[in-house]
Amino acid sequence: MNLKGATALVTGGSSGIGLAIAKTLIDGGAKVAVTGRDEKRLDSASKSIGAHPIHADVGKEADVLRTYSELFREFDHLDILVNNAGVGVLKPLAEMDLGSFERVFATNVTGAMLMGREATKHFIQRKSGHIVNIGSTAALRGAARGTAYYASKFALRGMTECWRAELRPFNVRVILVNPSEVLTEFYATAGLEQNMQNPTKLRGEDIAQAVRSALEMDDRGFIPELTVFATNPKD
Ligand SMILES: NC(=O)c1ccc[n+]([C@@H]2O[C@H](COP(=O)([O-])OP(=O)(O)OC[C@H]3O[C@@H](n4cnc5c(N)ncnc54)[C@H](OP(=O)(O)O)[C@@H]3O)[C@@H](O)[C@H]2O)c1
Repeated sequence: MNLKGATALVTGGSSGIGLAIAKTLIDGGAKVAVTGRDEKRLDSASKSIGAHPIHADVGKEADVLRTYSELFREFDHLDILVNNAGVGVLKPLAEMDLGSFERVFATNVTGAMLMGREATKHFIQRKSGHIVNIGSTAALRGAARGTAYYASKFALRGMTECWRAELRPFNVRVILVNPSEVLTEFYATAGLEQNMQNPTKLRGEDIAQAVRSALEMDDRGFIPELTVFATNPKD
C-alpha cells in the first residue's frame, strides 16, 4: 500500500511502540489517530507528532464505538487499524488474582476484538483494509509467570489467524507483529525493572520500521506474521 494520504488508527498510541508506529506512519504521509486512557499523556504525545487524539479505553465497548464515531468525524475513511494497546502482568499461577488476569485480557484480547470488529465492518464495505495486531514473542511459547500476559498474546495470535481466514476474501490484510523485548514503559507499568539505556535492546522505532515495511508491500501480497528479535541482547 501507499501510505501517502492513507488513514490509520493506532491504539495505545500515547507511548512506546504505539507512539513510534504513529510517528512513522505520519512520516510516511498518513493521517493518524491515536488512542489511550491517560488523557494528558495522550494529548501531549499526539501534539508532538501531529496525530489526532481520541481518549478511549479499548476494553470498554462504549469507548470503542465512540472512538470510531470520532474517527469518522475527523477522517472520511479508515485504511489501517493497529491494535497495539497492551498491558502486562507477570505472576506465578499460584499468586494470580482474578482482577489482574481479567484486566490483561480486557485490554489485550477483548479490546483488540472490539476495535477489530468495528474496523472490519468498514473494511468489508470498502473491500479493502489493513489490520496490524501487535503480538509478542510471548505469543509463541509459554514461560513461568506468563499465565495472564502470555495467554493473552496466544489468544491475540489465534484471533489474528481467524480474522485472516475471514477477511482475505475482502482484500483485508491481517498482520501479526511479534516484538521481543523493547525499551518502553511497559516493564515499569508491569512492576518490572528494565535498563532503559541498554544499547543492545530493541526500541519502539525498530518495531515501527517493521510495521511500515510490512504495510508498504504491494497489496497483492502480505506478510502474515513478523517476529522481531534484538540481534545480540545483553542484560
Ligand atoms: N515493550 C516490550 O518489550 C514489548 C514486547 C512485545 C510486545 N509488546 C506489546 O507492544 C504493545 C505496546 O506496548 P509498549 O511496550 O509500547 O508499552 P507502553 O509504553 O506501556 O504503551 C502502552 C500503550 O497502550 C495504552 N493502553 C494500555 N491499556 C489501554 C487500554 N485499555 N485502552 C487504550 N490504550 C491502552 C497506554 O496508554 P494508557 O495507559 O494511557 O491507556 C500506552 O499508550 C503492547 O501490546 C505490548 O504487549 C511490548
